Amino acid sequence: MRSRITAALAATAAFAAAVVSTIHPAEAIVGGYQVTDDRFGFMASIQSKGQNGTAGHFCGGSVIAKRWILTAAHCMVDTRPGDIQVAVGRDNIDTDVAQGQTLAVDRIVVHPRYEDTGTHDAALIHVTADITTAPAIALAAPGQDSLEQQGARLTVAGWGTEFFGSPVVPAQLKAVDVRAVADENCVTNGLMGFQAATEVCAEELGGDSCQGDSGGPLFGRLADGRRVQVGIVSYGLGCATPGFPGVYGEVNNPSIHNFITTTAGLGGTTATGGKKR
Ligand code: ARG
Repeated sequence: MRSRITAALAATAAFAAAVVSTIHPAEAIVGGYQVTDDRFGFMASIQSKGQNGTAGHFCGGSVIAKRWILTAAHCMVDTRPGDIQVAVGRDNIDTDVAQGQTLAVDRIVVHPRYEDTGTHDAALIHVTADITTAPAIALAAPGQDSLEQQGARLTVAGWGTEFFGSPVVPAQLKAVDVRAVADENCVTNGLMGFQAATEVCAEELGGDSCQGDSGGPLFGRLADGRRVQVGIVSYGLGCATPGFPGVYGEVNNPSIHNFITTTAGLGGTTATGGKKR
């Protein structure tokens, strides 16, 4: 049942055409700031094989274990391992090629319920060599909901497309600080069939993720200071459209969390990954 997302994209396109031209001349991460100091070292760029950097970038992802990247299921539709590669350890995916790694892929695992439900928008990519140039980010555990409360401070990052007349992928990583929107507040917008059990919303005036940021992480800090991933960039109505938050796959939904930890062998329901190197 991909129709919901397809419909959403169609609605997005129509609405965005109107909104983008009047309010937001540039997309990508909307608003926010450029990242040049490696602070979001867990960011991954999913690229078409053989097309390095911005030429090949089509989705974001996050390093969650030595050989596993978390991304969105909708990024992996009709995609085979041999079609893609993953770049890690770079803020600038064009000029930082001497740093980090470009990794080949031998397995893609999509959440088993995505195909039927159109939600559970999560997939895992297995790379063929150990990731030694990027740290893993920990995952919010089931029940660890403090970062999903209304107003909780979160950040989303990516190399999403910017539209200056024609679409351009920015080489430099961008991030924007956003606020969690409680499920009940996201539902009341009737946002394209928002699914509270498996999705989480976040917004900021003039700030949002956008096309090409999909699959990347929405993350925050727990009270003890540990950084954890809360969401996976999934969809929205246009980008930074007032009253319509960005929607993210919910990392600590029990089914999604179990899918990730079981597939990637992170072990234990309270385990939050985070094997830092
Ligand atoms: N579906 C988009 C992608 O594939 C992500 C859209 C996110 N939209 C938003 N308003 N936060 O890149």
